[in-house]
Amino acid sequence: MSLPSTAIEPLRFREALGHYASGITVITSHIDGEPIGFTCQSFHSVSMSPPLVSFSVMSGSASYPKIRRAGRFAVNILSDEQVGISNQFARRGTDKWRGIEWQESPLGNPVIAGSLHWLDCEIYAEHVAGDHLIVIGEVKALNLQEAAAAQPLLYFKGQYRNIAVHGVV
Ligand SMILES: Cc1cc2nc3c(=O)[nH]c(=O)nc-3n(C[C@H](O)[C@H](O)[C@H](O)COP(=O)(O)O)c2cc1C
Repeated sequence: MSLPSTAIEPLRFREALGHYASGITVITSHIDGEPIGFTCQSFHSVSMSPPLVSFSVMSGSASYPKIRRAGRFAVNILSDEQVGISNQFARRGTDKWRGIEWQESPLGNPVIAGSLHWLDCEIYAEHVAGDHLIVIGEVKALNLQEAAAAQPLLYFKGQYRNIAVHGVV
């Protein structure tokens, strides 16, 4: 028996979403002397006034309950030299911080060395959405130093990419 045409098959859904190219971030926080972090593609801008951003996190995330408790997080926007960092922070149950250089942001969140840019946020709201939570953050501080040569790490159709040609369309 064939499925009704309205059924969204998970693999197809994933594949469709893969056509939307994005950057990659690591969402970090710090609580009880422990740095926290996970790789996150679902970072978005939300509002200019107040300055709000969002990310979606799966409800089974081990990191997010700690981030919620801390009440704040940093968004580390990765550069194309940080593929290893993206993979490292996507592996649950491992020492994600092994070999990672970082320093504290103004709000006390870890800022990963070599990131393209960072934003320092306080949790503003949280909404349940299916098997994920949408977390809204109010931006309280920003990176003020531009890393001139750095290029973004991109993600498209399930693979890491970089901007091969430094041209503007
Ligand atoms: C490229 C990439 C993008 C990801 N984006 C997200 C995301 O937007 N939200 C999310 O919850 N997990 C995302 N993940 C998966 C988490 O990084 C991964 O499940 C991580 O182990 C969660 O760690 P935790 O359980 O310690 O929180 C992504 C993974 C990769 C490799």
